[in-house]
Amino acid sequence: MEATDFDEDRQKEKNNFTRITNAFRFYGDHYIGKFNKTLRYVMSMPSDQREKLTKYVTHLEAMKKCVQQNTIVMRLIMENACLTFDEGMDVGDNSSKHLRSQVRPNLNDMDKTASVLRQIVREWTKEGETERHQSYGPILQAVDKYFGSEERKKTKILVPGAGLGRLAFELASRGFSTQGNEFSSFMIFSSYFILNECSSEQHDFYPFVHQINNILDSEVQLTKLSFPDVFPESIPEGVEFSMIVGDFEEVYSTAENKDHFDCVTTCFFMDTAHNILQYLETLRHTLKPGGLWINLGPLLYHFSEISNEESIEPPYDLLKEMIISSGFEFLEEKTDVRCCYTQNQSSMLHSIYKCVYFVCRKVSQDYLKIGDNSFNELRKV
Ligand SMILES: C[S@@+](CC[C@H](N)C(=O)[O-])C[C@H]1O[C@@H](n2cnc3c(N)ncnc32)[C@H](O)[C@@H]1O
Repeated sequence: MEATDFDEDRQKEKNNFTRITNAFRFYGDHYIGKFNKTLRYVMSMPSDQREKLTKYVTHLEAMKKCVQQNTIVMRLIMENACLTFDEGMDVGDNSSKHLRSQVRPNLNDMDKTASVLRQIVREWTKEGETERHQSYGPILQAVDKYFGSEERKKTKILVPGAGLGRLAFELASRGFSTQGNEFSSFMIFSSYFILNECSSEQHDFYPFVHQINNILDSEVQLTKLSFPDVFPESIPEGVEFSMIVGDFEEVYSTAENKDHFDCVTTCFFMDTAHNILQYLETLRHTLKPGGLWINLGPLLYHFSEISNEESIEPPYDLLKEMIISSGFEFLEEKTDVRCCYTQNQSSMLHSIYKCVYFVCRKVSQDYLKIGDNSFNELRKV
């Protein structure tokens, strides 16, 4: 790479880093600003209406206090990210301050700060246990079933799209050598904080304060939760556990990751692809021959509604054919596995995914397609 390309890439990386740490930095201003806008609107109303809104105004003030508490968590995540991922350059020095004032987060970034808090509920609170049981439960059971209790440390498991790392942590806690992979800096900064800096202290936060619609009881918006529900230090000694930053396709299609993992588990991940066939190729590349792929999730193709993004969105029956022709055989399959995803249980609006769950084995390349009536449409010839 030319020096100028390198400099340009480094600058882009730095701008990206600053934009995202700025989103954590501006979280409080942004959400308190939203409540202030509503309060100003109330103040503009005739006095007889304002009188009827006294309790509502008190409630909005209480919500601002909840956001203030959340800013403490946001700051901790941001400061930790600056110290860890930016070689300390973003804390204090003047050029960093200049960059910080230049690179503004956009609205989408600000929404992501609120969704980080919802993701913390799913992955790292006691209240997220039901959701984890629905989504991670079948995967953990399958891993236990296919990889007995011996030599677990030698069993290498990959978790692409690891979010805040809880599924990967659960696998490592069970003694498997586990690698999580994630490319969103919002997730990486937050999981780094939880996994490395929350070894003995819980933090309070108010994750539902941003939900404005479909609230039956105002107290729900003021609900205080604590994280983490378990301290991530509890991984057995000698078990390898890491989180790798980067795009799944880029990181795991390399020569060093060929035939590397005994198992890949994907949870609510496959539909994040632009080209799901490329994901299948990468999965096959990084699994050892005979290795297992355990999947659970819906097909809410992430790029399907974004006009300037390219994407394919095959329905499950067609995807299944692609999986088989990409060199996998199905060992187990279930549809209609009901799961919620970052659902506020008290909300008046509920979404439930009827997920597909399956376990596939990587088959050798001399498998050819010979028919289409059987469960697996491939037979060795
Ligand atoms: C819907 S979330 C699922 C998180 C977690 N597996 C769970 O079930 O709670 C999908 C995750 O995949 C990550 N992701 C999407 N595309 C990715 C890619 N190409 N490489 C690595 N991670 C990716 C997203 O940032 C997000 O954290």
